Amino acid sequence: MKSTMTNANPDLARILVTREAIQTRVGEIARQIDHDYRDAGRLLVVGILRGAFIFTADLTRQLAIPHIVDFMALTTYGKRTTVGEVRVVMDLREPIENEHVLLVEDIVDGGHTLSYLQRLLADRNPASLRTCVMVRKVRENALARIDYLGFEIPDAWVVGYGLDYADRYRTLPFIAELKPEVYRK
Ligand code: IMP
Repeated sequence: MKSTMTNANPDLARILVTREAIQTRVGEIARQIDHDYRDAGRLLVVGILRGAFIFTADLTRQLAIPHIVDFMALTTYGKRTTVGEVRVVMDLREPIENEHVLLVEDIVDGGHTLSYLQRLLADRNPASLRTCVMVRKVRENALARIDYLGFEIPDAWVVGYGLDYADRYRTLPFIAELKPEVYRK
């Protein structure tokens, strides 16, 4: 099955996280969040666009606790790599003061994006602020604090389940490593 899927797309080197493994892990994280926020009243889930739109949709549909969903959109200069300055292109609709906020991100590489967001939202005085990330690349000097993590992956460019390369491969149902020759072109 795996090889058929990667063969179907010659740019992919291998599948790192299968669709089934993602579904199982999302369910486990949702149950953990249900447990941790059982006395919180309601949770404000903030998905970071565009990469986390699929993860946010899957995760929130598994939550049993009261929650609302909003999104922020970010852009990074230096499009295809992680190097660059982060900028908010769409902000939250409402103030988050006294809300329990859960940031949902697709991936953490060096951690600059997530730590920028943590600082930005912490300054708005939420009741609490935690982060939920689907995949983290194994790195020694990662900056950001992660409270709920799906998977650790090797340090390669990955796509699928919301993650893109130059806007492509975002809707693949699994997370796959891109062949280095594709992103080093
Ligand atoms: P960081 O700020 O170095 O943690 O980089 C995080 C951002 O870079 C993510 O929000 C993604 O937009 C992007 N990114 C980093 N690595 C990958 C990858 O392997 N595939 C797709 N996007 C990535």
